[in-house]
Amino acid sequence: MNLLILGSGGREHALSWKLAQSTKVDRIFIAPGNAGTSASGTNLNVDPGNFPEVKKAVLENKINIVIVGPEAPLVEGIHDFFLADSDLKNIPVIGPDKSAARLEGSKDFAKEFMTKYGIPTATYRSFDKTTASGVFSFLKTMAPPYVIKADGLAAGKGVLIIDDIIEAEKEVVSILNGKFGKAGSRVVIEQFLKGIELSVFIITDGTSYKLLPEAKDYKRAGEGDTGLNTGGMGAVSPVPFAGKAFMDKVKVRIIDPTMNGLADEGIRYKGFIFFGLINVDGEPYVIEYNARLGDPESEVIIPRIKSDLFDLIEGVAEGNLEKRKIEFDDRFVTTVMAVSGGYPGEYSKGYPVYGLKEVRDSVVFHAGTKINDDDIVTYGGRVLAVTSWGDTMKEALLTSYRNLLLIRFKGAYYRNDIGFDL
Ligand code: AMP
Ligand code: GLY
Repeated sequence: MNLLILGSGGREHALSWKLAQSTKVDRIFIAPGNAGTSASGTNLNVDPGNFPEVKKAVLENKINIVIVGPEAPLVEGIHDFFLADSDLKNIPVIGPDKSAARLEGSKDFAKEFMTKYGIPTATYRSFDKTTASGVFSFLKTMAPPYVIKADGLAAGKGVLIIDDIIEAEKEVVSILNGKFGKAGSRVVIEQFLKGIELSVFIITDGTSYKLLPEAKDYKRAGEGDTGLNTGGMGAVSPVPFAGKAFMDKVKVRIIDPTMNGLADEGIRYKGFIFFGLINVDGEPYVIEYNARLGDPESEVIIPRIKSDLFDLIEGVAEGNLEKRKIEFDDRFVTTVMAVSGGYPGEYSKGYPVYGLKEVRDSVVFHAGTKINDDDIVTYGGRVLAVTSWGDTMKEALLTSYRNLLLIRFKGAYYRNDIGFDL
């Protein structure tokens, strides 16, 4: 069994690390991968967005299953590309087709879907250029702050939260006028929800699903959840407030209606669904759907899967996930991300990374690294995710922080307060 994992971040390193432990897997290829993934498989210099190149790699390396890490190839239709190609159509792609990936690729689609199927989410209205004259009067019906979202993929920058109504209207207009390109040809304006966020994941073959461990991600660059939004500065799992009572609500009000809604729409979703949730006084609401696993959530939830992850992947590929088993590790797993100085703004790349060999009792997942003549150098904003285990969250975090003291690269920065609010 040969697998191809598409992507180059910490999520893909965690996937390849875990799948390499399966006795059913022969070879793992990662395209393009990073310095870390090359320890669990073979990196291929292929851009996941270049589907003909992906095809070539799949055929050359006799790939049996493709696992798609990031959202962009899914939203652009890589699954449909495989189905439409006579050489590829029998090679399963783990990741939804284009129509199903709209859950992430179009906020307007996701909101309409949730409204139609009674899934709790912030009330909203969407606008395009032809209806923009109604923006101000809609804003007046809502209390600040105003949540404004570009409809399409905007590399994590498409959500604005603004207190002033005049400024909010201006932003909507500037998004509709192209501030985020095509992603902003529609804009969703929604009610602000106050609560604590968490990430819930399932894997599904389109008929049944398995719940994966949940996680909490720390998105802001600065301590105390201040500063700019990032891809994520750290994560913990399990999430203490997501006990049985809360997770039962998530299942009954959110996951099951989502699965039923997809079936009703004639969508056979194969892959991971990431429910970005917010806990408002004990009640779960959906902030967003993603058509993939989270990053850095993967660096804590994958290590918490005790059973063979490949067994679930195979269940999706064969459409018999119902028969597969998943077992969790009950310990706490935490990850702390070391990032490049300046991130999420401008930063430099190419600095050597020191100290990786000194790490004990943690696994370091590479998020943005590259091998440069034998040296590991920084190659992204998020560089390394230091993952650790513990009987308590504190114990796991102390191990991550102890090891972070040993890892060095120029300008390295990490948050010292991951888990602070739990
Ligand atoms: P999204 O890309 O939809 O996940 O939004 C990015 C971030 O904006 C979320 O992780 C939340 O922190 C925040 N956010 C989005 N929608 C809302 C909302 N309706 N109420 C409060 N915060 C929100
Ligand atoms: N950590 C959030 C995400 O993967 O979108």
